Amino acid sequence: MTKRLTRHIVLIGMMGAGKTALGTELARRLHVPFTDSDAEIEAAAAMTITEIFARDGEMFFRAREAQVLARLLAGRASVISTGGGAWMQPANRALIAASGMSVWLNCDPETLWQRVRQRPTRPLLQTADPKGTLLRLLAERSPVYAQAELEFISRAGDSIDTSTARLIAALRAADPYLIEG
Ligand code: S3P
Repeated sequence: MTKRLTRHIVLIGMMGAGKTALGTELARRLHVPFTDSDAEIEAAAAMTITEIFARDGEMFFRAREAQVLARLLAGRASVISTGGGAWMQPANRALIAASGMSVWLNCDPETLWQRVRQRPTRPLLQTADPKGTLLRLLAERSPVYAQAELEFISRAGDSIDTSTARLIAALRAADPYLIEG
């Protein structure tokens, strides 16, 4: 049955936390649109994230990311997954808080590493010690991620079905008015 969201659900958290996978399934179950801010940035620029970082740098990427987020948040309530750095910008946090429920997908470091090591698509991890970089970013960012409205602990052994059902229950418990229908 079609459901209605009273505000956006915005997934935040580290690279490899499963924001896109969980967001896709969550939106499918709620029958609402899903967008991934990274994919939107890539489509608008007709370049990959790696190419944008290489050609124009991280600052340029962050400016595009903020623009895309503002555009998505101005639209009809939906599920939005954000790149791992988006929540670090105070202006993005304020925009998200104004029209959405922020959900931190908190995932253990080893699972994050096992996931991100398989794909060379994250420019921030193109360092001499990518695992060390990932752990440092996680340590720096976790206190800021913890400011999200809801923390959802992603359990590595859970299927996407189980995780999504658990997430929907957590969302409803956190805000009984969020999902109508
Ligand atoms: C980034 C995470 C990436 C992407 C970019 C920067 C970050 O998104 O936005 O490479 O700063 O953590 P995912 O979290 O979807 O990997």
